[in-house]
Amino acid sequence: MAIDYFADQPSPSEIHDRMKGYASWFEIDLDSLGHNLKEIRDRVGVEVMPVVKNNAYGHGLLPVVAYLSRESMEWFMVAKLKEAVAIRDAGIPGHVVSMDAMFSEGQFREVVDKGITQVVYTREVADTLNEVAGRMGKEAETFVKVDTGLRRVGVPHSEAADLIEHVHNLPNVSVRGIFSTFMQNPDQDPVMLQRLLSVDEELRERGVQVELRSMASSDAIFHNPTAWLDMVRPGMSLYGVYPEKKDAASGLELRQVLTFKARIEHTKWVEEGDSVTYWGRFVAPRRMRIGTLHIGFYDGVPREMANVGRIKVDGVYKSSLGSVSLNHYLMDLADVDASVGDVVEVIGREDENSLFSTAETAGWMVYSLMNHLNPFTPRVYMEKGEPVALLDLRAMQ
Ligand SMILES: Cc1ncc(COP(=O)(O)O)c(C=O)c1O
Repeated sequence: MAIDYFADQPSPSEIHDRMKGYASWFEIDLDSLGHNLKEIRDRVGVEVMPVVKNNAYGHGLLPVVAYLSRESMEWFMVAKLKEAVAIRDAGIPGHVVSMDAMFSEGQFREVVDKGITQVVYTREVADTLNEVAGRMGKEAETFVKVDTGLRRVGVPHSEAADLIEHVHNLPNVSVRGIFSTFMQNPDQDPVMLQRLLSVDEELRERGVQVELRSMASSDAIFHNPTAWLDMVRPGMSLYGVYPEKKDAASGLELRQVLTFKARIEHTKWVEEGDSVTYWGRFVAPRRMRIGTLHIGFYDGVPREMANVGRIKVDGVYKSSLGSVSLNHYLMDLADVDASVGDVVEVIGREDENSLFSTAETAGWMVYSLMNHLNPFTPRVYMEKGEPVALLDLRAMQ
């Protein structure tokens, strides 16, 4: 039976109370997530499989999946079996496609037992899945990964029709879809798409009908409509990040879902010439007021943000000061009204300190930034400006 994830959450006032003690938290705006989903769905008009791997790109797996399920999403894609199991154990309906590598009998049993859709691309894995499912008296679903030129994983496209026909004919396994990943190279991508379509054509000639063919992640959702096929697989765009800066003008409007907030832990005055933080990375040019936040690269702030972070406080942006510590990040508080306990925005939605700009400043891919946010930093989920869910994992176990 489907469980309402949000019904089990603390009330908004309880969440507000808990937040009073938080030194920092990620705020996840579910309305923005819903907005991005609608924009993508309206544009493509085909099945959408949200990519929620790596803790939903740092946004928190279960609340994000529960919300997307409420918005009638029926397919989810994860990288790790444990993510698929977590979704299943939470009672969230829909198909969960797991791309995890499979080594042990226990993994196969878990896939079958929990009704997870397993990615396969070798006969060995398909046959083992078939055998385990048979022993358990169940049927297992698969998605077959085709290597159309990325040469990472997947059955080589020249052998794909044979493998897919073989899996299709196994008694305890069904093929729900086939998919491939682009190189994101404008010269190579059309060739890769053609390779997947040829596999599908060959299968049809052999009387094997595959229901879902998928090639497009965010990049192709924006740049390659011919690749939308039956299903698209958005990751970063769903979380409100454009594949390229210029895509903001493409007519598909995204809203960044995540912001990073912190409370000022401590304030002090430093004198002209005083150095601040390890290696004296910042030296005060004059007497100035500074603040310390209880965050750092523990939470996912890149160490490259030394002296160049932009932190919003009291309606203005101020610079970070000195090196980024594991748990401390210092900032300029000159001429602003800010005291201990006040909330500042370390990653916001505006250009000055958005996910995209922060990544660019640090010399990181925005993808890396999102995927390095510590799961143990609390996450607060907002809907219509009110907190509706809280994810506050215990790091000590
Ligand atoms: C197979 C697959 N499809 C789709 C995506 C989503 O990619 P993007 O975040 O660029 O939309 C990923 C993410 O790495 C992926 O592994």
